[in-house]
Amino acid sequence: MSTEVKLADDRLDYSLEDLLASGDFAEPLIAGGVRCHGGFDADGVYGSPRVLHRKPAIQAWQRALQAQGHELLEISSDLMPPQYPSVDQAVLLCRNGVREPVVRALTIISVVEGFGAIIRDVKMPDLESIVVEPFHGTALAHLAGGLFEAHARDEAGWGDEGGHKQMWEAARDLAFESPEIPDDVLMRIMGGPGGRGRPRKRGFPQIDETFERMVGLMSNVLIVELFAEEVFRWGKAVLANPEISAEPEQASAMVGYIESDENPHVEYLRTALSEVAARNLRTSDGAILSGREVVHGTLHSMLRQITRQRPEEQRAQVRENMAKLFTQAENPSALREEFESLEQPWSPPPHTGFEPQLPDSG
Ligand SMILES: [Fe+2]
Ligand SMILES: [Fe+2]
Repeated sequence: MSTEVKLADDRLDYSLEDLLASGDFAEPLIAGGVRCHGGFDADGVYGSPRVLHRKPAIQAWQRALQAQGHELLEISSDLMPPQYPSVDQAVLLCRNGVREPVVRALTIISVVEGFGAIIRDVKMPDLESIVVEPFHGTALAHLAGGLFEAHARDEAGWGDEGGHKQMWEAARDLAFESPEIPDDVLMRIMGGPGGRGRPRKRGFPQIDETFERMVGLMSNVLIVELFAEEVFRWGKAVLANPEISAEPEQASAMVGYIESDENPHVEYLRTALSEVAARNLRTSDGAILSGREVVHGTLHSMLRQITRQRPEEQRAQVRENMAKLFTQAENPSALREEFESLEQPWSPPPHTGFEPQLPDSG
């Protein structure tokens, strides 16, 4: 038995049920009165949901890819924009009774987590007709067979079980004792400058549009998942501060549980995208295009856009209401001055690491 456990699981084919299986927990996770996914072992250590087979599967697909001499794509953490307001600014505001920007930020995070469920609605292209080389026994071959579904359930919950959306809400409500939630959060997310519905210009019109959209969405979600590392750092630091948090231990532990669940999301997405990058693609008129060009080209244009626009947008949105909010403090002008002194300008590195071969004109 013990030797079997030590052997790496090299199985490459998994059923939908396998990829959704959690195994047993000694204790469930209850957050804000809601039964959530995952749970604790007999020693009280948190375990993520749906990783019983999903985790070894992703590792086996990664080993197989690398054994074939292909690289697993990496996105530099230098590109990760900081959260605004910073931890110090957030603590300063809360200490002065101005909690709205922090409560709003935590609510936005929970809403965005819930949006993660759209990954199960990705329209699957006919991969067999597009991907030239065989791809059975890969993450790519399992996207519709459990990986997207497991991801969607982790983010938005499933059945009576809460997911990340409910866990972030619970962390916020523990720390700030069920604060009043600004009622325009959803509206502003949907209608903001980064809002939905903006038509995206096709980067690779020569390939099947459904395939291009799938690669685009996976790239976008991968970047959001990777950059969430900063959101977790911020969330844990703010919620663990006993000066402003009513439940510093419980609230920050909750964020830690969510964070530990994100690893399989990052890993299956980068594996499947790397598998596409390692293959050739058939264009709509029968020509051959390298998958690397499509994946790296897509990641490059998204990284450029997200690192250049998103931090500015987030900062502008937070600051829009600031003047009014400062007036809630005892000494608005002193608070404003101290808040401004904590500003830390950030600009994205000039290169994304995914530069296309040809000079970029845009
Ligand atoms: Fe999540
Ligand atoms: Fe995630």
